[in-house]
Amino acid sequence: MPDIAFHLNGTPVRVTGASPTHTLLDWLREDRGLTGTKEGCNEGDCGACTVMVTDGSGPRALNACILFLPQLQGKSVRTVEGLVAPDGAPHPVQDAMVAHHGSQCGFCTPGFVVTMVAAHAQGRTDHDTVLAGNLCRCTGYAPIIRAAEAAKDAPVPQWIKDETTQFAQNATFALAKIPSGGEGFAPIAKPVGGADSPPAALYQPHTTNDLATWYAAHPDATLIAGATDVGLWVTKQLRDLAPVAFLGGIADLKTITAQGDQLRVGAGANINEVMAAVAGPLPSFAEMLRRYASDQIRNAATIGGNIANGSPIGDAPPALIALGATLHLRQGDTRRDLPLEDFFIEYRKQDRLPGEFVEAVSFTTDAPNLRCYKLSKRFDQDISAVCGCFNVTVAGGVVTAARIAFGGMAGTPKRAKGAEAALMGQPFTLATAMAARAAMADDFAPLSDMRASAAYRTTTAGNMMIRYFHDLSGTDVNILEVTP
Ligand SMILES: Cc1cc2nc3c(=O)[nH]c(=O)nc-3n(C[C@H](O)[C@H](O)[C@H](O)COP(=O)(O)OP(=O)(O)OC[C@H]3O[C@@H](n4cnc5c(N)ncnc54)[C@H](O)[C@@H]3O)c2cc1C
Ligand code: FES
Ligand code: FES
Repeated sequence: MPDIAFHLNGTPVRVTGASPTHTLLDWLREDRGLTGTKEGCNEGDCGACTVMVTDGSGPRALNACILFLPQLQGKSVRTVEGLVAPDGAPHPVQDAMVAHHGSQCGFCTPGFVVTMVAAHAQGRTDHDTVLAGNLCRCTGYAPIIRAAEAAKDAPVPQWIKDETTQFAQNATFALAKIPSGGEGFAPIAKPVGGADSPPAALYQPHTTNDLATWYAAHPDATLIAGATDVGLWVTKQLRDLAPVAFLGGIADLKTITAQGDQLRVGAGANINEVMAAVAGPLPSFAEMLRRYASDQIRNAATIGGNIANGSPIGDAPPALIALGATLHLRQGDTRRDLPLEDFFIEYRKQDRLPGEFVEAVSFTTDAPNLRCYKLSKRFDQDISAVCGCFNVTVAGGVVTAARIAFGGMAGTPKRAKGAEAALMGQPFTLATAMAARAAMADDFAPLSDMRASAAYRTTTAGNMMIRYFHDLSGTDVNILEVTP
């Protein structure tokens, strides 16, 4: 593998000859002896392996267990060992964790501290949301949240501000500029590999055009975006994926543009970025995305990966289908658009040609009646058992348009066309909603699995229709808090 260059705890490092799917966690612990970063689940669920990664987007928390070394090219990585100031002063979060007794056995503590440091650098105070991806089984969350709250007003340490500025300006520049003990770095100006090169084990394009050319020539390659699915193919299934192309360095694939009421989201935009983009016009979609995995996963997972993986329980597709989204696909120089719902053919089978990739997805933001309901066993950090998204237009008391889409009810994300038909042209009343619920029973034949039984899925999906009626009628259906 070509060299990978990045900063580790403030010092430039170069990795030579590693597999392109070598995880940062394994490298830190086994090659660098940095065992403060813990291995818990090795699948992105527990946060014990959290590191802070800084690049042009600023500092953010990521799970090292499903982060491959090439994803760090030109970035800064801070582990728990690298959080003290140059003069040895602990980070304010570390002081607060001590003062508020935020640790007992200590296994989860490095992950918590790194997540809290990244959130502190971002000025975030939504501690519950920030920490939803870090699991602690013995201290309990109250002292940890108290510590986060106590540290929130402390100034961000100067070394973090300096690092953020440096990497925000230009990581390549920063790598070339910073002395590296004589080892030095060549500025990373060109993509590693090349369209004409033989199937290399690793390709890191910088533009969508580069990717299009290379992937058309190497259609058997595995594309890796955020690696929140692909990471598990390696850590759990022990798969060898080469050749691979990493999409994280393609700036123009991350673009989010608004034109009128249309939003076009590049496939490389991560879920937190999508959540921020839809928070104003589509608050229910954003609220559902807040419950998508954890902050660490949302910082990595891309909208393109969430669509392209074809999962029947991905959270973004039902909302996007309810919004009538258009998918933009590209193969070499050939582009085609199709309604997102037509992309999903059957379980894990999508309408995607060899060498074709997802370039972007477009959808309307003019959907004031969009509501998304995610049902999972746990509130945070859990995959949906059922995810229902409703977008019904009512004019003069009568339904004039209806798009309803579900995840978890079939082998693909799927519309509830019978329920939609039962609503169309009818007065928007409880009786109509009941009729739509009855019609929905014929729309789906869900499976029973570890998340939910078929009967439970059918019942709860139908009940979401009734909930939607009450929601649009102004009844408070918020289930975020249980009050006596
Ligand atoms: C702990 C954990 C919790 C999770 N919770 C949720 C959840 O609550 N809701 C949810 O919906 N998902 C959840 N997921 C699943 C996962 O986050 C998503 O499916 C994610 O969006 C995948 O995006 P990615 O960028 O990480 O894709 P990757 O893992 O990089 O790739 C996934 C697949 O998509 C392909 N791909 C990626 N980008 C493109 C592209 N532009 N064009 C064509 N193919 C492409 C890859 O080749 C691969 O086949 C969770 C995952 C983990 C590990
Ligand atoms: S080890 Fe559990 S999230 Fe990485
Ligand atoms: S302190 Fe023991 S798991 Fe959190």
